[in-house]
Amino acid sequence: MAAKLLDAFTQEYKQLLETELRTLVAQLNAPPIIKEAMQYSLEAGGKRIRPLLTFATVDAFGMDPKRGLLAACAIEMIHTYSLIHDDLPSMDDDDLRRGKPTNHKVFGEAIAVLTGDALLTYSFEVVGSIPNETASASTKLNLIIEMAKAAGTEGMVGGQVADMEGEGKALTLEELEYIHIHKTGKLLKYSVMAGAMLAEANQTQLDNLSLFAHHLGLAFQIRDDILDLEGNQEIIGKPVGSDTTNLKSTYPQLLSIEGAKKALQSQLDLSIQYLNKTGLNSKLLTEIAQLVVSRNH
Ligand code: IPE
Ligand code: IPE
Ligand code: MG
Ligand code: MG
Ligand code: MG
Repeated sequence: MAAKLLDAFTQEYKQLLETELRTLVAQLNAPPIIKEAMQYSLEAGGKRIRPLLTFATVDAFGMDPKRGLLAACAIEMIHTYSLIHDDLPSMDDDDLRRGKPTNHKVFGEAIAVLTGDALLTYSFEVVGSIPNETASASTKLNLIIEMAKAAGTEGMVGGQVADMEGEGKALTLEELEYIHIHKTGKLLKYSVMAGAMLAEANQTQLDNLSLFAHHLGLAFQIRDDILDLEGNQEIIGKPVGSDTTNLKSTYPQLLSIEGAKKALQSQLDLSIQYLNKTGLNSKLLTEIAQLVVSRNH
């Protein structure tokens, strides 16, 4: 019964998101190749977990999830840019993403770098263009500042730098946690916080949602590490064993598979504890959190 709730929600809002993303790219006045490369990587194949978190957070406040549409598009653009750059030969050097050849394999490295730049830049324009009826000027400003922080040097970029610097080194669990919280956790957390800001959450709700999303973000990357070992390439749509090839520190590598699975469960438990403190209608968010832990792709 409950699973059906998330299934129907996912179907509806994934479609809404994908249609809007296509429209946003189509309306750009630019050389066709960059639009094609943006659309190629944005196209269906992603799980859209971050947009779903934004929609479900707005929904938890009893508001129309569509209020989160442009923020969700912007987040998916930043996430997609991060994947394109993450796959580059100078980074993880992967050939498969979302079940298709990576952006640089199809368009070449120069266009792949520029596609990432294009998606990142456009995301800020998209959030800036949220209509005033949906968000006040001050809410939009906060959305933009927090998005920059989540994606930037103190957020995802910092995490990716630490991830690259850590290759071939024996990291402590604390150092690995920094990487995971930043390279993945910050943007995932922003996906929830953007929904909360758009729903005009109060400070207590923001604090509890922030802790919910913090632990969920860490859980999400622990699961990603596990899938890099135990996943099936056909299902995850990206190469299995990439972390091993690149000599990355991961949760399974530091704690063993069993230890990583325990850490995953304890992060999920913590996230749910904070979610329950919000007093919101958190059914969908709870289901998404459970999916993060049990997902096989
Ligand atoms: C992959 O993210 C990269 C990480 C941050 C772990 P997702 O697992 O959300 O990838 P898509 O969007 O479904 O392709
Ligand atoms: C990448 O982590 C996180 C970002 C893209 C910011 P990974 O390198 O583990 O992601 P995958 O496994 O390639 O999707
Ligand atoms: Mg990486
Ligand atoms: Mg990678
Ligand atoms: Mg990975």
